[in-house]
Amino acid sequence: MEIRVMTSADLEFAVSLTEAVGWSSIKRDFEELLLFDPHGNFVGEEDGIPIGMVCALSYGPFASIGNLIVVDEFRGQGKGAELMEHAMDYVKNKGTDVMMLDSVPAAVPLYERLGFKKVCRSLRLAGRVEPKLSQRVRPMEGKDLMHILSVDRKHFGASRFLFISSGLAACPEFSTVVEVDGDIAGYAMGSERHGHVRLAPWVMSDHTEFARSVLQDFAVQAGGLEIRAGVLETSRRAIGVYKACGLVEKGHSWRMVRGAKERIDFSDGIYAIGSPMRG
Ligand SMILES: CC(C)(COP(=O)(O)OP(=O)(O)OC[C@H]1O[C@@H](n2cnc3c(N)ncnc32)[C@H](O)[C@@H]1OP(=O)(O)O)[C@@H](O)C(=O)NCCC(=O)NCCS
Repeated sequence: MEIRVMTSADLEFAVSLTEAVGWSSIKRDFEELLLFDPHGNFVGEEDGIPIGMVCALSYGPFASIGNLIVVDEFRGQGKGAELMEHAMDYVKNKGTDVMMLDSVPAAVPLYERLGFKKVCRSLRLAGRVEPKLSQRVRPMEGKDLMHILSVDRKHFGASRFLFISSGLAACPEFSTVVEVDGDIAGYAMGSERHGHVRLAPWVMSDHTEFARSVLQDFAVQAGGLEIRAGVLETSRRAIGVYKACGLVEKGHSWRMVRGAKERIDFSDGIYAIGSPMRG
């Protein structure tokens, strides 16, 4: 297999792979990955025909690897492992040997062979939430970005500037902040995709008593569509809020880490992960 860098000419192929495996990725997800790092996303080819992909995001202190897919007829021949090793070498060359990913249960043995270890379950929740506008919650504005980034960095441990600013530009209707006494206590973002709304990311830094209001306010924008979110099982307060608002568990993957896992902060202030790749 030849492995080469993914370009914008591969976006349709990338989205078609995710559709084939039932993920709700959209073109913008990959456009952002290419913007974040034009050299960090890879396509595997056999005889010039694309047959798989993998994406690597190096945040500096740690990296995230995801979107590993091999087309059906080429599976079971070591190509998934080869793509992973390529992505792992890439992030090592960028300066970090700490890597995380979210693994579907069936792929855990593959990642364990590559040195990843399970940390906790990464839950998938879904449901319809009773909508209710909150006076504490207001639309996010461009001028909030620097404050939000410092809140986000405190919980995530690295800068997600590109994803947060791009999410605000693309879906301002789903981008909100919760403000208490003039201070931003948290923020939530989302996007509509294939008939549901994905809530991601959502961070509550402070005043978690308003988390339920954030979710119910978000439901107003969702306009009756199902809300889906992912959250680590260690974020117990977040799970409590989801369950109280009627979301139910629909499955899980495994958050896995290779290298010094203490270098990654799995903060329970992260109420919804940014997507498996975005932590
Ligand atoms: C995961 C995937 C890329 C592996 O590709 P591959 O070329 O078959 O990988 P390899 O031959 O190097 O390794 C085979 C390993 O894949 C994993 N695997 C097998 N079937 C799988 C499935 N349906 N879904 C996910 N992983 C699977 C197993 O760990 C297997 O190892 P095992 O035989 O010891 O159990 C491929 O199965 C796939 O595209 N699955 C669908 C998308 C997906 O689940 N991606 C992973 C998200 S975390």
